[in-house]
Amino acid sequence: MKTGIILLAATVGTAAIAHTGVEDEDVLARMNGMSAIAQEMKTIGGTAKGEIDFEASRIDAALKTIAQEAERIPTLFSAESTDPKSGALPEIWTDFEDFQEKAGALQAVSSGLVGEIESVGDLRPAMRRIGKTCRACHADYRASD
Ligand code: HEC
Repeated sequence: MKTGIILLAATVGTAAIAHTGVEDEDVLARMNGMSAIAQEMKTIGGTAKGEIDFEASRIDAALKTIAQEAERIPTLFSAESTDPKSGALPEIWTDFEDFQEKAGALQAVSSGLVGEIESVGDLRPAMRRIGKTCRACHADYRASD
């Protein structure tokens, strides 16, 4: 049963990363990076909701993946590539230093939380802290957010 729930969560995550019609390789790569981050957030969120059993090691693994993906953001966005399906705003490249700092904030918060989550009750405050860094970047650099 437990496996079933995890599989379901994984399937939902995969559906969200279908990126139909995106042809630019760079855009696809950075979208996949973002989707990987979102998928780990789903694991944390599902655990907070009680849909996934709490295991500190699984949460730490999710946080580590988020931190690693955050570290890749500046590289993934270094080329000013576009695609009709991209939600990336041109300000990323006119203000790349700030963009990089916002990626750094996500990296710092998520890696700083590794080993700090001891119970389900710790998850929501952690998600709020992480979510703030997502929104800070999306607000300035992603269309539709
Ligand atoms: C440093 C900036 C930055 C940070 C931090 C950031 N994002 Fe993004 N995100 C973007 C940009 C820019 C796009 C649009 C990329 C594109 O469409 O080319 C995006 C797109 C996405 C997408 C859509 C991907 C797709 O398939 O089109 C998701 C989902 C997403 N982000 C989730 C998150 C989550 C969750 C966090 C925090 C845990 C986060 N992002 C943190 C900049 C950021």
